[in-house]
Amino acid sequence: MKRTHHCNELRPDHLGRTVTLTGWVHSKRDLGGVIFIDIRDREGRTQTVFDPQEVPQELCDRAAALRSESVIEVTGLVRQRPDGTVNPKIPTGQVEMVVHQMSLLNDAEVLPFVIDDPEAAARVNEEMRLKFRYLDLRRPEMTRNLRLRSKVATATRVFMEEQGFLEIETPTLFKSTPEGAREFLVPNRREPGTFYALPQSPQQFKQILMVAGIERYFQLARCYRDEDLRADRQPEFTQVDIEMSFIEREDIYTLIEGLLQRVWKVALDIDVSAPFKRLSFQEALDRYGIDKPDTRFGLELKDFTDTFRNSEFKVFKSAIENGGVVKAMNAKGLACVTQGQMETMTEYAKSFGARGLAYIKVEGGQWKSPIVRFFSDAEKADLESRLEIQEGDLILFAADQWLTACEILGRIRLYAADILRTQGKLVIDPRRFDFLWVVDFPLLSFDKENNRWYSSHHPFTAPVAEDIPLLTKDPKAVRGQHYDVVVNGVELGGGSIRIHQREVQKVVFEDVLGIPPETAAARFGYMLEAFKYGAPPHGGIALGFDRLVALLCGTGSIRDVIAFPKTAKGTCLMTDSPGVAEPRQLRDLHLEVKAARKC
Ligand code: AMO
Ligand code: AMP
Repeated sequence: MKRTHHCNELRPDHLGRTVTLTGWVHSKRDLGGVIFIDIRDREGRTQTVFDPQEVPQELCDRAAALRSESVIEVTGLVRQRPDGTVNPKIPTGQVEMVVHQMSLLNDAEVLPFVIDDPEAAARVNEEMRLKFRYLDLRRPEMTRNLRLRSKVATATRVFMEEQGFLEIETPTLFKSTPEGAREFLVPNRREPGTFYALPQSPQQFKQILMVAGIERYFQLARCYRDEDLRADRQPEFTQVDIEMSFIEREDIYTLIEGLLQRVWKVALDIDVSAPFKRLSFQEALDRYGIDKPDTRFGLELKDFTDTFRNSEFKVFKSAIENGGVVKAMNAKGLACVTQGQMETMTEYAKSFGARGLAYIKVEGGQWKSPIVRFFSDAEKADLESRLEIQEGDLILFAADQWLTACEILGRIRLYAADILRTQGKLVIDPRRFDFLWVVDFPLLSFDKENNRWYSSHHPFTAPVAEDIPLLTKDPKAVRGQHYDVVVNGVELGGGSIRIHQREVQKVVFEDVLGIPPETAAARFGYMLEAFKYGAPPHGGIALGFDRLVALLCGTGSIRDVIAFPKTAKGTCLMTDSPGVAEPRQLRDLHLEVKAARKC
């Protein structure tokens, strides 16, 4: 190829020069026999002109016959665009190329969807985009996302290297440790009935690396989880995975604050201030009803349990008598919701376990609500002053056990914020990023269905030292040395200081989580074994790399920052995977399929 420039490079400095560009036919216009073609490569676009006054008609005819997205090579003279035709929107907008020679390197058939018009492209359904991903990725927005992803990966590596970390790869053929999300299993041909599992994260290997004396490890690690997929979850995804020895929580906070400051500067030229705010799990739930609060707007939850302890309103009074709480929030300016919207909101709350969604609309100087007639003057006065109630407000209540009440109103808070945003009543600067640490999580959560405790994070998280004696006596009171880093309501990462003493780890596996000793030995024996031979105190964190890049790109879906993502059903529409296996392959793997997919 004799390309002399990329398609974003030509400027008035190049006037009069003969240059060669290669790329795709982005768009084509015919203005009275003069053909204009925008040629595009990875870097940008340049306008080319085929003018029958200046070049042979045969060349213009060939240009006129070109189909969109054909691949061409053009050679010609750079000239100033005539007055009135300058395009200030693109860097090469002052010049154009008068083409003297063109070769068609490869013809393109008619595309299944338009890619040269951003608005039309945005309307194409995602299934089409994923099926023809190579076309979708040609769109400048998508190329920009992949480019930013690459830049952020490099910035991360440079920063971690500066901080003395070694990048070490860990196996992706691992063994099954069914404590966390569901795993992908890989049958082992050599021994019938045995399986590898793809790792949910390199958690155990990175801890073993600490025992191995590596001290500072990181990896851009591929992780696999067979869980229900959403906009922020993929079955395979990437973590910036980190582990360090001889540290405390504060060391991780400082490291990650530094890394995120670097990344935000490199990617968006934004100076992030540190240290980040810290919020305990308890406070996050109390104020925002979620452990990953979006603090870019208020609408905070308030507790009115004391106010309604002796209320005439039975729903509140009995919830409190049953050990519950009454929480309320002021959805400022949302009294305009219709009855239908109110019912939808109530149904939404019920889908998260609410028994109802009591409300007050403040309209025309009145509190409109089926329940205020039960409220005393003192109760009303307390609501009015603490929720700063004004004309146009909508007050929403949840009465239930503390966690349930908080979580219900937490969902409603986000729901209300979305309505306010679409109505233009809540405006959030797209360059605003609220970083915070959520800390002091409970080490354990109770699973009512299976009547057992399970780890809130994972079973390797260390309890807060003074809570260790409570492990078997009062598990719910034990705080974990776990932390999450949250940005604009997105859980970007999580980690913990680990248990490094074999005895404590054994108590957690066997006495707290109820894993029988032989099962614990079969699953995690090698870790317990490793801890016998001098395990240093250690801890770490993993950032969701796809979520990180999605935040930087301003997209709500991590599929937009992954070159070849899976659909919500876990399929790849381009390659049509997963697919069926040949009988011979199944035989080799000692597998038999009982109910095959109908082809
Ligand atoms: P955790 O399970 O919290 O911790 O995961 C860390 C971060 O990984 C991202 N993440 C995901 N991203 C995309 N798709 C998914 N399915 C998905 N699941 C998780 C999130 C999350 O915050 N080994 C521990 C870390 C540690 O303790 O050091 C772990 O994996 O951004
Ligand atoms: P009821 O007395 O059950 O008709 O409920 C009166 C109002 O209180 C209705 O608006 C319900 O949606 C609401 N409500 C009922 N239970 C709860 C609850 N646990 N928390 C908040 N609101 C509730």
